[in-house]
Parts: sequence; structure tokens; C-alpha cells
Amino acid sequence: MSPRPFRLVFIVACLAAGFLRAAESAPAAATATPAPLPPPGPAAAVYLTWQRDPARTMTVHWHTIWSEGYRDTVLEYRPAAGNGPWLRADGRAQPMPYTARIVHTVELTGLAPDTAYLFRLGTLRTGEKGVMRVVTDGREFRFQTLPAALSRPVRFVSGGDANVGQTTANGVVNEYRFAQMNRAAAARAPEFALLGGDIAYVNNEPKAAAKWFDFLRLWGETMVAPDGRLIPLVPAIGNHEVSGDAFDIRGGAPDRGVSPGRAAMFYSLFAFPGLPGYNVLDFGDYLSVVALDSFHTNPVPGPQTDWLRATLAARARVPWIVPVYHVPAYPSHRSFAGAVSVAIRANWTPLFDAAGIRFAFENHDHLYKVTHPLRAGKPDPAGTRYLGDGAWSVTVRDPQPADKAPYLARTEKKNHVFVVTLHLDRAEFAAVDPDGAEFDRFTIPVRP
Ligand SMILES: [Fe+2]
Ligand SMILES: [Fe+2]
Repeated sequence: MSPRPFRLVFIVACLAAGFLRAAESAPAAATATPAPLPPPGPAAAVYLTWQRDPARTMTVHWHTIWSEGYRDTVLEYRPAAGNGPWLRADGRAQPMPYTARIVHTVELTGLAPDTAYLFRLGTLRTGEKGVMRVVTDGREFRFQTLPAALSRPVRFVSGGDANVGQTTANGVVNEYRFAQMNRAAAARAPEFALLGGDIAYVNNEPKAAAKWFDFLRLWGETMVAPDGRLIPLVPAIGNHEVSGDAFDIRGGAPDRGVSPGRAAMFYSLFAFPGLPGYNVLDFGDYLSVVALDSFHTNPVPGPQTDWLRATLAARARVPWIVPVYHVPAYPSHRSFAGAVSVAIRANWTPLFDAAGIRFAFENHDHLYKVTHPLRAGKPDPAGTRYLGDGAWSVTVRDPQPADKAPYLARTEKKNHVFVVTLHLDRAEFAAVDPDGAEFDRFTIPVRP
């Protein structure tokens, strides 16, 4: 090839390449519409709790991962029966500290008592004429409100100290035991679950946050009643929701270092109990659950005890008042002289005596416990039975010898939940182990 034609080919090739490059980098036509956003991905966790009357409200929480995309805090819901229209509800979103998760919270209000509902999560899109519509990911969930009066029995489960990812002595991670206990609890068709602290054993540590994710994932997969509804979780705080030297606060110096800021992850995850860390949930006119903070983010004496006194006094006509808290007043494994146990017996149990509380849920000691009915620390048929001691799925411990703890009526080294069935005149209890077997059963009459 002679030099001249070669130069011509080269110039043509350069012009063509420049034209193509210019075409690639040309701005899109001003009239083009942006590509539609992809549909929202599935929520990373979906779970229920309450902030107000469980007969007429429900609080729905779910998680998204902000690094994977944005999703509005909006859902649609309707009664499960019939084919009524979907109603829209929105709420608030807040980050879960130290993680890439957003915790979405929607409180549904004005619900009908004792009614099954469906809900589905969504995000907002601009539809025709600029009207915002909800785009859902297609998955439907179910919940049930509680009755407004005790016109039928109401059943719930109670326990504490779950610890999804604890490694047991033989090296087996006990996620299986947690899921197994959940399935045994859910099979009893409870309408809700009390969980009195030491929930995921994260200690508010960023590096352990995945244990919260595992807990909530497994809870959503396994705490499902036989009719397919999600079982709401009513938590109280324990020492393993709190960062720092929880053991020292618990056992040595109960007058220092307690602050809600030390349990920022726990408070971001659940609308109840919320700040300051203790709260009451009134079920219609028949049940009040009182969640207390046994020296984890609030001192026992002082404002919390003043609040408890007023809360019990205002509910003198409520037949069932159920306190739930973490550290036991009457421990089954640890010492009776433990600083927090002493503080609870000095401040709270006299108020239980005065109010005629029939039973209270304690945790933290990791075995099964039923005390005698106690009043001023002495056996009394009209007293309070302290039920515990937090062994949902942790490794169980040895009970104290009988001569050191004469208040104990029964102990067992067993993982368990209490299944409680409330009637107008009595509460029936069954203790259920992870195999679903009942190993204890008793009845407590309502307070006069
Ligand atoms: Fe524990
Ligand atoms: Fe504990």
C-alpha cells in the first residue's frame, strides 16, 4: 500500500472513532424519562410489638439495609376476613446504631378488637396525575388484635435469656435450641410473648450486631402461630442489652453508670418499653404488663420506683397486673444478697405486696423456678409467686441448695417457657420445654 491511501484510511478511521465517542457521551434528550427504580427488596426483619392497647393497636417494625437502597416507611393493611380495601399507614424510620440497618416503625391504631388483619410492606411511587401509590413486594403477613375484655381466655408465653448464637460446651452453636424453643412456644398459639431481658446477648457491641440480625430473622421464621400470624414480642431490658461492665453494675455497684445511652441498639429496635426504659401496656380492662428495668439503664430506687407506685395505684381495678423484669428479687442460682436483688426487694416487692400482685416474671439466673407465694418475703397464700428464671435457650445452671433459698417451691435445670392462660378468675400455667413437653402445671387465682 502506498503512503497516500494509508493516510486517507487513517484520517477516516479517526473521524469515525471521534464521532462514536461523541455519540456515547452526548447528554440524553431532555424529554427522556428516568429509568424506573427497581422494586423494593424484601425486608431484612419483620416483627411486631405494641406501644398502646393491644386490643386496638399494633406496632409493626421492619428493617431495610440503607446501603442496598431506599424504602419508605409505609405499609398497607386490612382485616383478613372479607375482601375490603387495603388501607395505608406510614410511620418513622431511624438508624440502628453501628449498623447499615434502618428500623422502620408503623403504629396501626383504631383497629377492631379480637380481629385478624393482613399487612404488606411497601414503598411510595408517583402514579398517574402525580398521586402517590404504594408498591408492595407482594408478601403478606398476618396479625391478630387482642379482645377488649376477658370474654374468652387469653394465652401468652413468657421467658427470657435467649442467646441465639451462644456456643455450648460441646462446641455446638445453639441457634437450633432457640428455634426449637420458639417452635414449641408458637405451637401453643400464644397471642404474644414476654421476653424479660438477655435477648440476643449483643452487649450493645457493634461487632456483635449480627446476633440481633440472627435473633430477629429466627423470631420471624419460627414465632408464627399455627394459623400463620406473627406473634408480637413484648421485651424488657437485661444486662446483656447494655454495653460496658454490666456484671459490675449487676453485682457490685448498683448506684453508678446506668444510662439508656448504653443500650442504644436495644432502644432502636423496639418501640416498647421505649425510653426511659420502663413502661406499662394496658390490655383492654383486664391485663396490665409492667416492664421494669432492673438496674441496666435506670436505677431501681428513685424515679422508676415512684413511677411503679403510681402505675400500680392507677390500676387498682385491673384483675391481672404482670410485672416482668430481668434480675430476680428471689434468685434461684445467684446469691440472695446480690445488690440488685436486695434493691428490688427494698423497692418493688413491697409495692407488689400492697397491690396484691399474684405473679411476677424474673429472669437472669438461667433455670426453671417457681417460688412459694410470698408476702414480705414470707410464705403467704395471698402473696406473689416469682416465676423464672430466664432459660429460653441458654445453657442452664445449678439451683441453690434448699437451705439457702427456702423461698423456692420448685427448680429444674431445663430450658423452658411459661405458657399462661388468663381467665377472669384464675391463671393457668404450663411449663414447656424445647421438645414441647409439659413438665409443670399449676393454677393461680385472681387477686381479690
Ligand atoms: Fe442471661
Ligand atoms: Fe442476665
